[in-house]
Amino acid sequence: MVMTPNGGERLRDRRITLGVCGGIAAYKAAELVRLLVKQGARVQVVMTAAAEHFITKLTLQALSGRPVGSGLFDLDEESEIGHIRIADESELLVIAPATANAIARLCAGLADDLLTTVALATKAPLLLAPAMNVNMWRHPQTRENVAKLVARGALVVGPGEGDLACGWVGAGRMAEPPEIVEACVRALAPAARDLDGVAVLITAGPTHEPLDPVRYLGNRSSGKMGFAIARRAAARGARVTLVAGPVTLETPPGVERVDVESAREMRAAVLARADAARVVVMAAAVADFRPAVCSGTKIKKGEAAPEIALARNPDILAELGAQRRERGGGPILVGFAAETGDLERNAREKLREKGCDLLVANDVTQEGAGFAVDTNRVTLFAPDAASEAFPVLPKVAVAERILDRVAALLGVRR
Ligand code: PMT
Repeated sequence: MVMTPNGGERLRDRRITLGVCGGIAAYKAAELVRLLVKQGARVQVVMTAAAEHFITKLTLQALSGRPVGSGLFDLDEESEIGHIRIADESELLVIAPATANAIARLCAGLADDLLTTVALATKAPLLLAPAMNVNMWRHPQTRENVAKLVARGALVVGPGEGDLACGWVGAGRMAEPPEIVEACVRALAPAARDLDGVAVLITAGPTHEPLDPVRYLGNRSSGKMGFAIARRAAARGARVTLVAGPVTLETPPGVERVDVESAREMRAAVLARADAARVVVMAAAVADFRPAVCSGTKIKKGEAAPEIALARNPDILAELGAQRRERGGGPILVGFAAETGDLERNAREKLREKGCDLLVANDVTQEGAGFAVDTNRVTLFAPDAASEAFPVLPKVAVAERILDRVAALLGVRR
């Protein structure tokens, strides 16, 4: 449970607005309010009209000890509660259950009921606990909506997998109330500064290997994974240098960025900075091969298709690992492995061959994992330790898990 070791309340006097939407999981809102109040939170419940089909205002009012808001156009209620007052007073807006419809409306910025109006007016962080049918959760529109909200800074807890009220089995079950309370505690905790002053060098994105002045060999990396690590490392106090391949992402706040195109440029940028770094994270999808010859002029469309000879690119991570072995010391090395099968065997092999302290393996063929999406599903491998597998999580959450392990490794070395 969420009590501190001395039995204290971890949410004492924190002002939490709980939005309850119309889904069968709305019944769990009663337990959630009870647990939040038990932790000392001042809970303001706001219900959608649909939620009132599933749970009564009276129940949530009794448990929260406050009038429950619902109607935007109910003048009596509005004068008593006021959506702007709720928005201004909230330190955290939790929506549990967050239905597919509510997520879509939040994403579109609608403000046609009390909950969406509060969501639009508040400056408080937003924590979503989605709950819906598995196919609705997996629908590309819902994935896109969630990804957009996450990109705007929303936090997401769950959904879990299992039997759903609709009869289907799969992802879509709302996180359990204690898990949501934990997420509230985390959301309201001051950002951990456990990487304060630590120099972290991160690579991200693809490399482009030129074939002629207009063409290149590339890959599908968007840079999202590496940029998420850079963003979170900087937020945790690290001095971050981000060596980025050709991507269209904005530089995260407080991060120094070095743009490169090819694997050889990335190698030069990384090796020039690796000695000053205490941690190197190689999230970039570096091309293993480049065209052996780069034509100075555009290759003409001749009769026969040209044959392109390839040359091997340097393996930057393996080089850093070898350097560290030779010198008997160097930065902590975190590698990635993009796999399409036999994850465990390939990841263990890369971990050993490249001499990393931590290897983040993702099967890029899996839904919600790998290239260009806002989520990833990773397993962490370290020498002489059991692997740690995570479910599909937003890339920022994956970044946090990786940095937790980096912080632990730094702690071991200090
Ligand atoms: O950028 P996104 O769209 O968010 O996608 C994320 C991602 C799929 C790119 C990321 O999660 C990922 O898996 N990155 C590593 C991709 C990769 O190149 O994997 P690999 O298994 O081929 O390489 C293993 C490791 O060696 C990687 O850390 C890589 O950076 C490094 N490497 C590879 C080749 C090379 N010539 N030099 C290297 O340093």
